[in-house]
Amino acid sequence: MTIKMLLRALSCCLFFSTIAVLCTGHKGHISVVLLGATGDLAKKYLWQGFFQLYVNEVSKGHSFSFHGAALTPPEKALHLDIQNSLAEEGLHEAGRLFYLSVPPFAYADIARNINASCRPLPGAWLRVVLEKPFGQDYESAQKLAGELQTYFEEEEIYRVDHYLGKQAVEQILPFRLQNRKHLEPIWNRHHVERVEIVMKETLDVKGRISFYEEYGVIRDVIQNHLTEILTSIAMEVPLNLSCSDDVLRAKLSLLDSLQKLEQDSVVSGQYQDYLTQATEELEKKTNYFTNTQTFAAVLVHIDNIRWEGVPFLLMSGKALDERTAYVRVVFKDNAFCVQKEDGRDSTSNTCKPKQIIFHIGHGDIDFPAILVSRGLFKPYVTPSRWQQASELPSHNVFGQDLSDYYVYRPLLERDAYSVLISNIYRGKKESFVTTKNLLASWSFWTPLLEGLEQETPRVYPGGAENSQLLDFMIEDGGLRFVTDENLEVLTVAQKVNAFGSTQSYFLNNTMVSDWAEQLIQKLAEDIQNAADAAIKRSGVFHLALSGGSSPVALFRRLSRHHHGFPWKRTHLWLVDERCVPFTDPDSNFGNLETGLLKHVRVPYVNIHPMPVYRNQRLCVEEDMGNQTYAAEISEFILNGSFDFVLLGLGNDGHTASIFPGNDEGVDGSSFVLLTEGPHKPRKRMSLTLPLINQANKVAVLVLGKGKHEIVTLISRAEKNPRKWPIHGVNPSPGQLVWYMDYEVLLK
Ligand SMILES: *[C@@H]1O[C@H](CO)[C@@H](O)[C@H](O)[C@H]1NC(C)=O
Ligand SMILES: *[C@@H]1O[C@H](CO)[C@@H](O)[C@H](O)[C@H]1NC(C)=O
Ligand SMILES: *[C@@H]1O[C@H](CO)[C@@H](O)[C@H](O)[C@H]1NC(C)=O
Ligand SMILES: *[C@@H]1O[C@H](CO)[C@@H](O)[C@H](O)[C@H]1NC(C)=O
Ligand SMILES: *[C@@H]1O[C@H](CO)[C@@H](O)[C@H](O)[C@H]1NC(C)=O
Repeated sequence: MTIKMLLRALSCCLFFSTIAVLCTGHKGHISVVLLGATGDLAKKYLWQGFFQLYVNEVSKGHSFSFHGAALTPPEKALHLDIQNSLAEEGLHEAGRLFYLSVPPFAYADIARNINASCRPLPGAWLRVVLEKPFGQDYESAQKLAGELQTYFEEEEIYRVDHYLGKQAVEQILPFRLQNRKHLEPIWNRHHVERVEIVMKETLDVKGRISFYEEYGVIRDVIQNHLTEILTSIAMEVPLNLSCSDDVLRAKLSLLDSLQKLEQDSVVSGQYQDYLTQATEELEKKTNYFTNTQTFAAVLVHIDNIRWEGVPFLLMSGKALDERTAYVRVVFKDNAFCVQKEDGRDSTSNTCKPKQIIFHIGHGDIDFPAILVSRGLFKPYVTPSRWQQASELPSHNVFGQDLSDYYVYRPLLERDAYSVLISNIYRGKKESFVTTKNLLASWSFWTPLLEGLEQETPRVYPGGAENSQLLDFMIEDGGLRFVTDENLEVLTVAQKVNAFGSTQSYFLNNTMVSDWAEQLIQKLAEDIQNAADAAIKRSGVFHLALSGGSSPVALFRRLSRHHHGFPWKRTHLWLVDERCVPFTDPDSNFGNLETGLLKHVRVPYVNIHPMPVYRNQRLCVEEDMGNQTYAAEISEFILNGSFDFVLLGLGNDGHTASIFPGNDEGVDGSSFVLLTEGPHKPRKRMSLTLPLINQANKVAVLVLGKGKHEIVTLISRAEKNPRKWPIHGVNPSPGQLVWYMDYEVLLK
């Protein structure tokens, strides 16, 4: 059933097919209307939850009827005939519940129709239940909330955050209240080291990208589920948990005392396949690029006396190594134990780690659980609903064997939706998200989300392969990844320029990145701009080009698309040359000739090949080819300052023909040298770094996955031009720009 049909159906309440009328009671009748009842969620959990409600409540004298906005047959579980719909005649209606399992854009119209023609008679309650998302930021959440508030009273609106129905989460406040004698002295900054609130998933978001692109992990999980958990852990606990207003007010007060987040309060990631999946699912062109985070960890601080200075770490991600969700409160450990554990009285646990864990689901323990280190205290847990777990296997949980904890589990495991449906029915508003609390949460998260739009997340491979890549630590009041990784350099100041390429920094110099084709196009434009500027300044343009495979595409681009290029005033020089005849396929000049010179009109006298062939022999020192080339440069170029030098980067970190582990050409007074590389043809002639560093502009062009490793390596390595000649490129009067395609960066 489409949304349109659904809206039409809603124009009159009576249009709904009544699926079942269950039992006749004397305490009043409850009508339940499920909209979007054929969706996956509805099928799986909602009908089941409502059936559970019926089973639990019908004995207490209520009668129920269930109506679906979808016209598909009812679940056989329910066994009753649509025709019985009229049997409710003559019953007194106590309340009417609408469950909207529909996308948010449909809310406003549905709300209008419910208000206009579906309200129950005075005396009976109306409850309208909504599913997330409740907006994407403060503004959109406020707009959506405003629309709902035109039609409904606050007490009629029930926003579901299904984490509030998870048994271990639901139990946090009762646990804190029931154990306050033990907890009150230690549930504070003096005793709590840190709090971790975690939801890890192994699945990725393939198939849901059109949704996910708009949200990302912070909006999808952290702003709602993890923030709700944070409030339960950190808020002041009212003495009467049955008083919804008190609970909600304490929650709001906690949300209001969250310290403003800074840009370094977060580390973020994106699993590697996300970009490809997004490009496919959204049918984007191959140069699509997105900053959507699929992993984030956020450091939250609370500005109140209880929690000042205590780090709360909220973390969630897709494509991680395991599926689990938990809250872990770690207590400070300030006792030093002299005698080893073995010989100790088993009741003395001063030296063991102390922690309390609310295990929400999945992971190492496959049931909801509350774990309290035996060194702390033996907790009280509502005996009608929770029991101490017995016969647990020996298993290490956060550094302690299960036997080191008091472990409690629910007597009866219940699905979150069935818990929440029962709470809706009972009007327990504290298990839902009120408008005020929703907006308080969004006003906390929105500035961070806006800042993150400009940041490139760290790319991670997914699954167990992530290894330590996503590990993070607290440093200087912020978070940072433990391991350095070259992609991090991308996060420094980004802007997208007119060409749509991403501009940022790499090794402290400007970096332009894009897909190869667009990148070459950008580089060609930049060379032409440099040519125009040089000619304006001095009448000529001196361009020095490297050999290798990378510039070939550039030559093609320049010859085919740059008809206005001032070739007549351009001098072409070589950065390096292999000691082979010009006719050899390895000759840099040979490649320049076939790739470029055959197609553009550069005056013959402006072409300056390297004199590797002299006196009928190749690269012999006594022939002083290097001296000749240096003289030619001095003759033509003021101060030997090239206008533009194009370099490449070898897989071993060499640039021009200056090779790693070799002093030649890194410093000194020589301008041109014969050098020797590790591969055939080994002998080369090359401009030296001191000469290159006199240039006005130096570009380093790096293309292809094959260069990912070396780029990662040189970005991490300590600056040492002798080991990594590329580190020695640093044009003193000029500018160095890196041109790297996405394949290099993302592999
Ligand atoms: C809600 O319904 C009532 C009764 O039909 C109507 O008077 C009122 O104008 C409606 N509210 C809005 C905002 O449409
Ligand atoms: C707790 O609050 C509920 C709901 O407001 C109220 O009915 C109940 O009497 C209160 N209990 C105590 C002990 O004050
Ligand atoms: C980058 O530049 C900053 C400021 O100019 C300087 O402090 C820092 O040492 C540089 N880093 C490297 C790796 O050169
Ligand atoms: C050339 O070098 C000399 C000496 O280093 C310097 O004074 C002069 O300004 C330079 N000329 C240009 C155009 O850079
Ligand atoms: C030419 O090479 C020799 C070493 O072979 C070097 O000493 C000399 O400085 C070089 N000449 C120039 C102008 O760079």
